Amino acid sequence: MFDITDKKVVITGGANGIGFEMVQAFLNAGAEVLVIDISPRLPMIHQALTGDLSKLKILKGNLLDFESIPNLFERAIEELDGSIDVLINNAGIIERGNAFDLSSESWQRMLDLNVTTVFELSRLAAHEMKKKGQGKIINLGSILSVLGGFNAVAYATTKGAILQLTKSLSNEWAADGIQVNALAPGYMLTAMNEGLVNDPVRKSQVEARIPVKRWGTAKDVAGVALFLASPASDYVTGTLIPVDGGVLGR
Ligand SMILES: NC(=O)c1ccc[n+]([C@@H]2O[C@H](COP(=O)([O-])OP(=O)(O)OC[C@H]3O[C@@H](n4cnc5c(N)ncnc54)[C@H](O)[C@@H]3O)[C@@H](O)[C@H]2O)c1
Repeated sequence: MFDITDKKVVITGGANGIGFEMVQAFLNAGAEVLVIDISPRLPMIHQALTGDLSKLKILKGNLLDFESIPNLFERAIEELDGSIDVLINNAGIIERGNAFDLSSESWQRMLDLNVTTVFELSRLAAHEMKKKGQGKIINLGSILSVLGGFNAVAYATTKGAILQLTKSLSNEWAADGIQVNALAPGYMLTAMNEGLVNDPVRKSQVEARIPVKRWGTAKDVAGVALFLASPASDYVTGTLIPVDGGVLGR
């Protein structure tokens, strides 16, 4: 029921943070993993990963460059011998700033990567998945898919859009055997939250809000992604699953 051996999985932004842990978790589970990332760390991830690395492929690409996306995706499918079972739209950015000070470039960049790229990759993947009558698309939302956040107006807007995009695409593709779901990580110990973790006041304010009383880790998210990629979740679609230590339930 949880078997994903030899499933062909594309993970965007897999060179760092949550994406990287997902790469390791999917390799551990016997999947074939292709990572698309722009990070200079990408060529080095082999050294940091364990397991059968013959099942790992990497593709350098800038997912903000919309024109290159169809070609990038085509190359990814070629690398995976012509098919895809799971797409994880993980690459995302946050650029903090209050609504008055946030530049319009910053606003646009977050919308482009966090939403438009997710849409473009999802429909490219769904075309392929439809041929097989099955597939899984997993989007990275956030607790800010639901909450407004603070000094994160563009980011929260993009993650709110991910929730709606997930539901809309699920409605369109569920009958084709494609499940589209989103994960909503909470406060995670990752580079994205360095600012919060390094500020003792904000750090303890955050900890007070987490019912399980600890920050989340990338591994916490990877486990739920495995579930959403496996047959165990075949009847789960169009939903947002919090991985937040209980924050959204408060
Ligand atoms: N860290 C958190 O606390 C948290 C909480 C909720 C949701 N999320 C979401 O989880 C996802 C991963 O977050 P993370 O903390 O691991 O981030 P991260 O910054 O550690 O990793 C993001 C990855 O995306 C890649 N990337 C960025 N821009 C790219 C581009 N233009 N083209 C290709 N690749 C690009 C980066 O190189 C990096 O490897 C994001 O969508 C984020 O919004 C994170």
